[in-house]
Amino acid sequence: MKKLQRLAILTSGGDAPGMNAAIRAAVLTAKHHSIEIIGFLHGYNGLLKADYQMLGEAQVQDIIHRGGTILKSARCAEFKTQQGQIQAARVLDKLAIDCLIVIGGDGSFKGARALSQQWNGQIIGIPGTIDNDLAGSDNTIGFATAVDTAVNAIDKIRDTANAFERIFLVEVMGRESGYIAMSVAIATAAEQVLTFESHQLPSEQIDSIVNHITNAQANRGVSSYIIVVAENLWPKGTLDLANVLSQQANIDCQPCILGHIQRGGSPVYQDRILATKLGVAAIEAALDGAHYVMMGEVSNTITATALDKLPMSQKHIDEFMFNAQQSIFEFHDYK
Ligand code: F6P
Repeated sequence: MKKLQRLAILTSGGDAPGMNAAIRAAVLTAKHHSIEIIGFLHGYNGLLKADYQMLGEAQVQDIIHRGGTILKSARCAEFKTQQGQIQAARVLDKLAIDCLIVIGGDGSFKGARALSQQWNGQIIGIPGTIDNDLAGSDNTIGFATAVDTAVNAIDKIRDTANAFERIFLVEVMGRESGYIAMSVAIATAAEQVLTFESHQLPSEQIDSIVNHITNAQANRGVSSYIIVVAENLWPKGTLDLANVLSQQANIDCQPCILGHIQRGGSPVYQDRILATKLGVAAIEAALDGAHYVMMGEVSNTITATALDKLPMSQKHIDEFMFNAQQSIFEFHDYK
């Protein structure tokens, strides 16, 4: 087996709190094994332009608690083309990189898969996305912090909702996954959660949303009422859903879109620890000759999953969690 001499690392796609902790762990582990490591800047853009910096102890000092990524991140249209992937392979060969570590989500790993068609070096993924939508790891880096941030925000919304006995629609991120929405709804005791897992078409949901609110008010009296909505669920967006509820059912609700606030902030300890473990695991896997895997954690065990297995095994919310939320907030028809 060829001796590992030079590694490269990059962060790509939506940044996630904890990415810095993963970079730190990877850099310090590489140094421990006397392997040189460089960081490409701005995701795959930096790879295409050979825009990079050397990484050592000094660069990763004092970053474990910082959100964002010291390497910057981006989405890269050029890297989606075959020409872009060939250019990336050229840069990696020119810089004598033996192994590329990609910290990112689904889109970033699609890019890694395409690159593997053009480049023979080792490619190792680390799951970094707030969405928690990657099979091969129970949690992705950034998910716990994003949930924590949304929970803190909704606790505050609850105070004002209580004071005015108002109904709120709070939209959380997650792309096409309901992990953030469901977790946040349970942790904030939200009365309803609208996610992709509810098996109802959006058009069928209006009646069920309205019935739930009506039954809740009949059972408990008028009080605050919070609906957590997964982004991209309602075709025209959560502001439109608020309008539809107001016009079709005369239900007055305040929409609130939490948005990118969920991507920032100091990572919670769960993300720092997960990121540190996976940063170390990625370097150890590289040393063991792993070629084309994502390092994750499944049932408290570090696990390597082949990158091309990831898109085939979609990750679904635990049925127990879904049923728990439903049964806690089941308000029966009030007669
Ligand atoms: O994948 C992370 C994520 O924050 C998603 O939850 C969201 O849909 C998307 O990225 C937003 O992307 P951008 O920051 O490019 O608008």
